[in-house]
Amino acid sequence: MSDLPVTADAVALPSSTSGLELATPTTDEPPLLEARDLVKTFQSAGHTLSILKGVQVTLRAGEMAALQGVSGVGKSTLIQILGSLDRPTSGQVLLKGQDLYALKPEQQAVIRNRHIGFVYQSHRLLPEFSALENVMLPLLIGRHPWSAARDQATAMLTEVGLGDRLAHKPGQLSGGEQQRVAIARAVVHGPDLLLADEPTGNLDLVTAETVFQIFLALNRRRRLACLMVTHNPELAARLDRRFQLRDGHLVEVTAEGVR
Ligand SMILES: Nc1ncnc2c1ncn2[C@@H]1O[C@H](COP(=O)(O)OP(=O)(O)OP(=O)(O)O)[C@@H](O)[C@H]1O
Ligand SMILES: [Mg+2]
Repeated sequence: MSDLPVTADAVALPSSTSGLELATPTTDEPPLLEARDLVKTFQSAGHTLSILKGVQVTLRAGEMAALQGVSGVGKSTLIQILGSLDRPTSGQVLLKGQDLYALKPEQQAVIRNRHIGFVYQSHRLLPEFSALENVMLPLLIGRHPWSAARDQATAMLTEVGLGDRLAHKPGQLSGGEQQRVAIARAVVHGPDLLLADEPTGNLDLVTAETVFQIFLALNRRRRLACLMVTHNPELAARLDRRFQLRDGHLVEVTAEGVR
């Protein structure tokens, strides 16, 4: 795992989210994420469900990509597999060249804690803990000292505009605020890759835009790559790349068409 350096990029950054531009991806470095021939089948009620039928994808550092497709096509399944949370039936997932499914579960957990952040449609915050405690958790799991974790989590919550909501529990926050806490928790440890499964799916249009702007800001300031499942074509069109999952295969939608 020596080729996967620990990222310690969790410092406070300017809080403005206006006038954003995407970080320019570079092409002269190895892919951040590479999926090779991913196949996923489920056994259900005596028959085989074939969901992924040979998915290939490459994402470079700092790229923002949308993942689209009809309900039930396998977007969440793919996100889980790319994040080393669900084993493919066959195929490989490489993060910075490291084959995630060649690792033991505890090694995968270390990689996730250092390099990958997850955001879901529902915030999945721990209800008994404050916003600050929720955001501190990944750092404490990563064995950061408590005071450093508190300071980094405070800075991260301030960056997403919640510096005055640190002590609020999830039930005392609005839906958009809860999702911003979830994003802060997903990126506080300085990951390289954010996997987001319909992160704006539960939000009204204005709040969804606020949350989307936070993703753009994180990309620009931290060169964070992101694969974002969305049913919103307008949001998808604003990202660097657009993928569609169709009948088990991933296609890329470009200005010239589909490839
Ligand atoms: N553990 C499982 N066992 C059996 N079938 C499963 C399992 N997990 C997912 N599936 C099936 O795989 C298919 C893909 O599910 P998935 O959740 O990935 O779809 P999705 O594209 O994310 O859909 P949505 O847009 O509704 O979230 C679905 O038909 C689902 O029922
Ligand atoms: Mg889904």
